[in-house]
Amino acid sequence: MIWSFGGPLIDAKISYNGTLRGLAGRVKFPDGLLVYDYYYDPMKQQWALWSERVKPFDPNFDGLFSNLVVPTAETNRQKFLIDVHRKTRKGLLYVGFAGTGKTTIIKDYFNSVDKEITVCSSMNMNSYTDSKALQTVIESNVDKRMGKIFGPPSGKILMFFMDDLNMPKLDKYGTQSPICLIRQIIDYQLVFDREHLEEKKTIQDVMFLGCLNPKSGSFTIDLRLSRHFTMIALGTPDKEILNTIFHQVLQNHFKNFDNTFNNYAKKIVDATSVVFNGIALTAQFMPTAKKFHYQFNLRDFTRIVQNVLQAEA
Ligand SMILES: Nc1ncnc2c1ncn2[C@@H]1O[C@H](COP(=O)(O)OP(=O)(O)OP(=O)(O)O)[C@@H](O)[C@H]1O
Ligand SMILES: [Mg+2]
Repeated sequence: MIWSFGGPLIDAKISYNGTLRGLAGRVKFPDGLLVYDYYYDPMKQQWALWSERVKPFDPNFDGLFSNLVVPTAETNRQKFLIDVHRKTRKGLLYVGFAGTGKTTIIKDYFNSVDKEITVCSSMNMNSYTDSKALQTVIESNVDKRMGKIFGPPSGKILMFFMDDLNMPKLDKYGTQSPICLIRQIIDYQLVFDREHLEEKKTIQDVMFLGCLNPKSGSFTIDLRLSRHFTMIALGTPDKEILNTIFHQVLQNHFKNFDNTFNNYAKKIVDATSVVFNGIALTAQFMPTAKKFHYQFNLRDFTRIVQNVLQAEA
């Protein structure tokens, strides 16, 4: 219930939290946070916080923020949700504005997934992506199993991630050919041989994951495809998540510094947070048709922290 009905909500999360608590009856949620922040621990037979499951971040990264994913409550619960979907091969679609951490969640999942049973592949869509390009990438990830049946190596599942799913341009019929192709694969498990159109190829054991920004490209995608996905909406990460990510990174960096730098990590994150929220919520800095580049998101926060990381002890 929390994720099936409540997954696609953003602003309504708070009122849905109230509704669900009202409906829960004997399954009483702990007070304090939203129902989204809890999971049911079957071993202890009680609700527990996602944030308590978060492992500390591994400081051995190469210094480039783009390669770094700090485990947070968000990455943790999304990892769990993707795992649940994996069992039924049902797809997941992450919807959120720029810089809400959509790509990072999938990247983090792919880094941690068991490669013995999974083949991971991704494709960034853009306005020039057509169904032929998509088919080529999908086919390059599957092998011939027998006859006309194709799939990842036996016993494995192909997790195919499509970033910016709504970017391909609309054709004159108002459709997007890559979207139609994915729908066809999900509905019928088949693609047509491009050289010999009379031949069909069956594609098995593929699970699709997607991300889209509802403010870019065609804004939305065809309902005939989106109905196959569980939709999860992501908003701007809350303060606690920002702290988990950036505080740990800076704290780790300042380890080699003089003692006076001990609480600088907290100060820098707090100060950046104040400025970030100030700018992001000020009407003067809202993106307009003329100033569409006024986009302040997690990326800007990341840049500031990344620059601080350039400082040496
Ligand atoms: N858990 C995390 N650990 C470290 N960095 C993170 C984490 N989550 C998000 N970020 C940082 O936030 C920034 C934005 O994240 P990401 O690229 O995933 O957003 P997005 O929603 O895919 O945006 P877009 O729609 O523009 O592609 C990135 O610079 C990323 O490094
Ligand atoms: Mg992205």
